[in-house]
Amino acid sequence: MEPLSPSEPGTANVLEVLQPLIRCESLAKRYEVGGGTVHALRELSLSVMPGEFVAVMGPSGSGKSTFMNLVGCLDQPTSGRYWLAGEPVDSMNRDQLAAIRNRRIGFVFQQFNLLPRTTAQDNVELPLLYAGVPRAERHARALRRLQQVGLGERLDHHPAQLSGGQQQRVAIARALVNDPQLILADEPTGALDSRTSIEVMALLQALNREGITIVLVTHEADVAAFASRIISFKDGRVVRDAANDPLDAAAALAALEPAEG
Ligand SMILES: Nc1ncnc2c1ncn2[C@@H]1O[C@H](COP(=O)(O)OP(=O)(O)OP(=O)(O)O)[C@@H](O)[C@H]1O
Ligand SMILES: [Mg+2]
Repeated sequence: MEPLSPSEPGTANVLEVLQPLIRCESLAKRYEVGGGTVHALRELSLSVMPGEFVAVMGPSGSGKSTFMNLVGCLDQPTSGRYWLAGEPVDSMNRDQLAAIRNRRIGFVFQQFNLLPRTTAQDNVELPLLYAGVPRAERHARALRRLQQVGLGERLDHHPAQLSGGQQQRVAIARALVNDPQLILADEPTGALDSRTSIEVMALLQALNREGITIVLVTHEADVAAFASRIISFKDGRVVRDAANDPLDAAAALAALEPAEG
């Protein structure tokens, strides 16, 4: 049999659909602090398949962000192994980590992390600027993503001229602009009211239906209810990992009273 090898750019890779997108084996992160050891993550083993929508829950300090930073190739484990789309991340150097991040992952944060004196359009173009994409293509790709998140009419607005939910949608457009397979979102609805949270979840569900894998951290069971798998952390360990019959966020939104204004 022919050995399985990565496909040419731009072609679908059968191998990548059959193997886990995220695969962790005995992943651990320890910090030495004041003579003691903090076990932020203990011997974590789990896989996430392409197309899953995973919610990560657990009390403060249970290791959720540590897990997201490792999965996002922002940090290296103290021990254990991690493969992203089959590539062994734990043996990569800083340049290789940056490259795999740019190629495969989009990040969404609780506080949006948009540049304040910069338009929505330019905020979304930024990752493409770093990637050296020519100006006209940057413009077209950012525009398409902003239209996709429903902000085609707000291209020239600065973050302060947008609502919280609109700012988070700009951040999601920015996360999408590199065409990632994986979106990692650490409490993306933590700064939003409940209606706006459901709007953001409806957008993430729509992206998931297009095939993007989503892993999000949330403290709220109401938000986790939109995911199809819920993983609970405690003291750096997974204490529960179960399938969930997800609520449909678009339907939940339609059932709410119309927004004022
Ligand atoms: N750089 C660091 N140095 C030392 N300890 C750290 C460091 N980063 C995290 N920790 C510790 O690791 C543990 C896990 O932290 P982590 O940020 O992953 O928790 P979390 O589940 O995301 O919490 P929260 O819900 O409050 O965001 C905590 O006990 C934390 O104090
Ligand atoms: Mg955290």
